[in-house]
Amino acid sequence: MTEVSQSLIPESQLLEAMNAHELLARLFTDAHTAYTFTEEPVTDEEVHAAYDLAKWAPTGVNGQPLRVAIVRSGAAKRHLLDALPRGNREQAEGAPLVLVCGAKMDFHHDLPSLHPRGERYEKLLADNDKMRTVMAHTSATIQVAYLILALRAQGLETGPMNPDDAQLLHDYFFPGEDIEPILVINVGHPGTDAYQERGPRVGYDEVFREPQVNA
Ligand SMILES: Cc1cc2nc3c(=O)[nH]c(=O)nc-3n(C[C@H](O)[C@H](O)[C@H](O)COP(=O)(O)O)c2cc1C
Repeated sequence: MTEVSQSLIPESQLLEAMNAHELLARLFTDAHTAYTFTEEPVTDEEVHAAYDLAKWAPTGVNGQPLRVAIVRSGAAKRHLLDALPRGNREQAEGAPLVLVCGAKMDFHHDLPSLHPRGERYEKLLADNDKMRTVMAHTSATIQVAYLILALRAQGLETGPMNPDDAQLLHDYFFPGEDIEPILVINVGHPGTDAYQERGPRVGYDEVFREPQVNA
């Protein structure tokens, strides 16, 4: 059995009980952003199990720049709330777990241990700040998307939010590290009136186009 399929053995008995159709519904068609949460805690094991799935996300040169601060309560929670737009604080305050997701901007130094040609890419990216910045942001964002799906696979609900004061988040949660906070995710079990009305999705024909040059 591969490491991949082992990480699918739950902890979460939910996965075992679902057929493929139900699982796809949970991850995609029925999945909703949550705005309120119960007090039921999110365990370290659940977060760990979610990362064991999310870590398989594709990233530029396999750089895996995502770094995550786990916030539950106390002074950490108060600093987190100060960094959010006022309209979003209540949602975060009511979440038993909030993940502060950041992009490690100097991820190129990790490449020698992550990619077969990592030393070459480390040098290339050291000389190209623009390429490195774009790659850190896009790769970390893809990892965040996988993390949201993986948390949903554990039976948890998520509420992603952009921070207002990324500098404050950096200084408190990633001091001394070259990590840029990109997104905050509330995590927990759905509370009262947890979901807002579903907004429409942009259709296939609007999103996809086939350039004339294909003809
Ligand atoms: C990057 C990102 C930023 C978001 N920022 C906020 C936010 O600041 N405040 C908020 O209430 N919801 C925020 N949301 C939640 C979205 O409004 C929500 O995911 C979207 O409307 C889809 O809702 P649904 O999952 O219920 O269909 C954000 C979502 C994402 C992915």
